[in-house]
Amino acid sequence: MKKIKFFSTDINVREKTILIRLDLNVPFNDKKISDTTRIDFVLPFLKKLSSGKAKVVILSHLGRPNGKKIKEMSLFPIFQYLKKKIGEIVFFLDDEININLKNKISNFKYGDIILLENIRYYREEIDNDESFAKELASFGDIYINDAFSCSHRKQASIHQIAKQIKNCYAGPLLKKELTSINMIIKDRKEPITCILGGSKISTKIKIINNLIKIVQNIYLVGAMANNFFIYQGYSVGKSLIEKNTKQLIEEIYSNAQRFNCKIFVPIDCIVSKNFTEIGNKKNINEIDDKEIILDVGPKTLDDLVKKIESSKTILWNGPAGYFENDFFAKGTNSIAKKISSLTTQGKILSVVGGGDTVSAINNISSELKFTHLSTAGGAFLEFLEGKDLPGLDVLK
Ligand code: 3PG
Repeated sequence: MKKIKFFSTDINVREKTILIRLDLNVPFNDKKISDTTRIDFVLPFLKKLSSGKAKVVILSHLGRPNGKKIKEMSLFPIFQYLKKKIGEIVFFLDDEININLKNKISNFKYGDIILLENIRYYREEIDNDESFAKELASFGDIYINDAFSCSHRKQASIHQIAKQIKNCYAGPLLKKELTSINMIIKDRKEPITCILGGSKISTKIKIINNLIKIVQNIYLVGAMANNFFIYQGYSVGKSLIEKNTKQLIEEIYSNAQRFNCKIFVPIDCIVSKNFTEIGNKKNINEIDDKEIILDVGPKTLDDLVKKIESSKTILWNGPAGYFENDFFAKGTNSIAKKISSLTTQGKILSVVGGGDTVSAINNISSELKFTHLSTAGGAFLEFLEGKDLPGLDVLK
């Protein structure tokens, strides 16, 4: 089987132009970056390339402008943050992708770091266009994909570009993501408990069915669990549910039985009449028509903590409730703190991932520690699903 080529320190980068695909797709709130994790994670490698006298050209996207130049999706605020963190050697170019831009790049010094404008401003990016990728590839000598979180997208700066440039590698962040997720899938330390949150089971059914084969316990939390309450014959009031999930749930239970994996759902919850008012504890069979389930309850939390304590590996994706409001953040916070403390004590291995989960964790404390904190959302889940990711395949 062909292996991915990873970037290593013995590759000579001196006086080379490196094209690096990063995922600088960070969340914004009120026009300000609300979580810088994805940028912070790439800083050491950028500094290293620059101090090795490579000229670094960064390709990234922000949001989904789908080929339109949407001002709110400009990478300019990200450039400002990079400059603040790295210094005056960081530049921003919002020129069109063409020969003039290539000439402009060639005038920069080795050691400079140049961020190009949102690559998704070009329809050709989304279409994985070959001539567009060729143009991009002509800007550099070496291509590095350090955006695991984008590697499930068959797009020009992820996939086609690697076909157009001879020296292509996976970067250190991508390597870390792969090694850590493989740690769960391949070199597993059992029992493994997987805590899965999020709202839609239809988008996670394949992941759940794949996980059933490799983990011993799956604990479903968040709005996804609401569908299981309905399946069990309970009312969930005004809580978020997905239609026609009976068959999906039956499939999950029958697969779980086949592979000897236990499926758990909350036994109590915190409900409220709206998203802003303080909630009440309720058992799952006590929810009235006007209530919304917004967090797991204390009995569930006790049970979850016990499951975490009796596991050797934890995989967590998706918050347990509406953590954006402190009234409903207790479940998510307690799970995060428990996993972090057992990881620090060396009692468990933990892989925690997904955009929302990372935001939730950063809301709690910057001191929390996990074996691996994945900044990938969709790619993390697709990889767990067992899918081949186009951005990785092309690096083999
Ligand atoms: C993400 O946030 O998961 C990545 O940046 C990929 O974004 P996308 O789902 O818009 O491709």
